[in-house]
Amino acid sequence: MNISIFGPSGATGTLLTQRCLAAGHQVTALLRTPENFPLRDRIHVIRGSPFDLPAVNQTIEGADVVLSALGANSLKKEDVLERAVPQIIAAMQETAAQPKPVRRIIVLGSAGALPTSLDKQPAWRRWFVQNIVYNTFLKWPVASQISQWQNLSQSNLDWTMVMPPMLTNTPAHGAYRIDGDALPRNGSRISREDVADFMMQQIDNPQWIKKGVYLAW
Ligand SMILES: NC(=O)c1ccc[n+]([C@@H]2O[C@H](COP(=O)([O-])OP(=O)(O)OC[C@H]3O[C@@H](n4cnc5c(N)ncnc54)[C@H](OP(=O)(O)O)[C@@H]3O)[C@@H](O)[C@H]2O)c1
Repeated sequence: MNISIFGPSGATGTLLTQRCLAAGHQVTALLRTPENFPLRDRIHVIRGSPFDLPAVNQTIEGADVVLSALGANSLKKEDVLERAVPQIIAAMQETAAQPKPVRRIIVLGSAGALPTSLDKQPAWRRWFVQNIVYNTFLKWPVASQISQWQNLSQSNLDWTMVMPPMLTNTPAHGAYRIDGDALPRNGSRISREDVADFMMQQIDNPQWIKKGVYLAW
């Protein structure tokens, strides 16, 4: 398949790029600084910013599936998803009249994007995570994920937003809980490897199209 990746240089994006190459897919990826990306010689590189529509148009051209693992490099207000996701959606929507429109997008999101995220948590944990984690420590990343959710869910694309809790750089467990309604009870972590594996499985799985899906160990 032709797979376009946004955020390929990030911790999860690199795992996605490796998995796409291992599966024999053709990868086109948008990079701000391709010279720093170790897999650059094995992919079709577009140099540019995801905030720039022409660069995004080039990145998604001819794609069967679009993957995104974009996100800010800090906990500060950077508005990366606020600025990039509308450009990706616009670029995909511009292909609607083409013989092969680009409709499928699978993004890395986060638990916390929806007010119902914590519905399955014990009361003390719901209070702690909402007030201490989401409303303070992770205020800006959560705001970005709320924006990503709103933009995707209002689009007519075939989107899936994968919503994990804290990501770790530890090996995949290969087994984790999957829930379409809320973060699994007491789920607090999952590895980027497991998340990347799940995102890859969604390439040919229609189950979570136009939906968010929570993952946790
Ligand atoms: N960390 C967690 O525990 C956690 C938990 C749940 C969900 N998430 C979500 O997971 C996503 C990705 O996480 P990650 O840790 O895998 O990512 P990461 O390593 O921080 O990588 C972020 C990616 O976004 C790109 N990016 C950042 N700022 C950019 C900008 N201003 N313009 C263009 N590109 C920019 C980076 O490109 P450059 O290499 O060019 O900087 C990189 O490819 C985020 O949306 C985050 O909210 C994280």
